[in-house]
Amino acid sequence: ASAARRLYPDVMDQHGAIVVLTGAGISAESGIATFRGPGGLWEGHRVEDVCTPQALTADPALVHRFYDGRRAALPDVRPNPAHESLARLDRAWPGDVLIVTQNVDDLHERAGTRRLLHMHGALTSALCAACGARAPHAGPLPPGSRCDACGAAALRPDIVFFGEYPYEMERIEAALAACDLFVSIGTSGAVYPAAGFVALAAAYGARTLELNLEPSAGSDRFDETRLGPASRLVPEWVDSLLQSTQSS
Ligand code: NAD
Ligand code: APR
Repeated sequence: ASAARRLYPDVMDQHGAIVVLTGAGISAESGIATFRGPGGLWEGHRVEDVCTPQALTADPALVHRFYDGRRAALPDVRPNPAHESLARLDRAWPGDVLIVTQNVDDLHERAGTRRLLHMHGALTSALCAACGARAPHAGPLPPGSRCDACGAAALRPDIVFFGEYPYEMERIEAALAACDLFVSIGTSGAVYPAAGFVALAAAYGARTLELNLEPSAGSDRFDETRLGPASRLVPEWVDSLLQSTQSS
């Protein structure tokens, strides 16, 4: 890539539209284990035992306990400079911004990001398996908890399990098709459909940038990959982009 092409993700038209995809890597330095790394979250649990519709039917107590534990850990973690800089981008960028996260933690919203979609659900909400209502939820969620909307004893963690369709796909695909810059942060590129977002954005003409600790499964699909910890790379990228709007 030429120098100008490499610089493009740091210097762009202030009306340009940006979509950012985040994964477990952005929360790693806040102390939340990633899925596939050493000591990853799935270690000690087979993913099909805790993150599939079949698991919820076969052993609801195990699935609920697994997510109760993750929900209970939220107060012990804090947003890191990567979450904070994306919140700054959301506040200060003059054009469209959409942050799409695969994470089920609440660190983006606690950092202050508003334009945010949780495509794989959220630990801070519960889903009624009977009527589909989603409602904020704190504390343990025992199997058989009742839905306020329909009364059924059918509340489950509001997590998109493997084999289920992620949330907000129409809005996400529309934003990917319209964006000028797509940035992927802290995701291994192992799980579709999120792993396909870079190709979709590029097919519609967006420039693409990856910020990750190590090359992901799809690194060669990006115009540029920068390797390093998110707590350093994300503020560097956001600050240079915001500076370019002030000087233009
Ligand atoms: P897959 O083909 O089984 O499922 C991918 C689909 O699941 C996608 O369509 C996606 O939309 C959906 N999905 C639903 N909820 C998701 C969530 N919370 N996170 C991610 N995607 C979600 O998945 P695959 O990636 O092709 O994996 C094949 C199999 O490998 C899986 O069924 C699973 O059993 C296993 N797996 C193992 C690990 C592990 O680390 N041990 C991790 C992921 C998958
Ligand atoms: N800074 C930047 N990147 C990091 C850091 C860090 N400090 N630490 C780890 N990473 C990178 C890893 O190199 C890896 O590529 O983050 C990525 C994390 O990958 P995964 O653990 O596979 O997490 P993710 O891509 O979010 O998983 C996608 O899979 O299991 C499902 O539903 C789950 O949403 C999740 C989805």
